[in-house]
Amino acid sequence: MAKRPFPLSKVYGLLEPGPVVLLTTVHKGKANVMAMSWHMMLEFEPPRVACIVSSRNFSFDALKATRQCVINIPTAELAAKVVSCGNSSGRRVEKFKAFGLTPVSASLVGAPLIAECYASLECRVIDARMVSRYNLFVLEVLKAWIDPSCKAPRTLHHRGRGVFMVAGETIKLRSKMK
Ligand SMILES: Cc1cc2nc3c(=O)[nH]c(=O)nc-3n(C[C@H](O)[C@H](O)[C@H](O)COP(=O)(O)O)c2cc1C
Repeated sequence: MAKRPFPLSKVYGLLEPGPVVLLTTVHKGKANVMAMSWHMMLEFEPPRVACIVSSRNFSFDALKATRQCVINIPTAELAAKVVSCGNSSGRRVEKFKAFGLTPVSASLVGAPLIAECYASLECRVIDARMVSRYNLFVLEVLKAWIDPSCKAPRTLHHRGRGVFMVAGETIKLRSKMK
């Protein structure tokens, strides 16, 4: 197979992470939502997730101060709203209102769930030691919500520069564990 050099700036699109999510926070009475694709699982149960929230983002201050958030998982139908949430700041825009998203009270954290997303994970920050160095927050999922009618979620996966892949076929393989 002939390969050619590939720009380092595009590598993240190859190591494509999980679905693009909408991270909600609330701080000083203001609910906000940002798009986030840089996250990874760290543990099965309790579920732990590492995520990068840039210190330039309004969400960073809220997450750092409150140590609470909700990871909401949208499907492809919400793509335009996801991009809008990722290209505007809660400093200037009331995103729930501006982009027609519906906040729903969470059970264990102050940040809201997003009604339009098929899954929502209430999280708290359990480790902030790598925030100053990498903007990396380690979260623990305290409570998870799912829409049972969404059997095969067509999640969005960011390939970079406005390009998304939509999750498609599901295949089920029986594992032969030794
Ligand atoms: C598809 C997509 C994925 C993104 N992923 C991240 C991410 O993982 N971490 C991050 O800090 N910003 C990410 N962003 C950018 C933020 O969503 C963006 O800076 C947003 O305006 C921040 O909003 P805020 O200032 O209201 O917090 C992403 C944007 C898009 C469109």
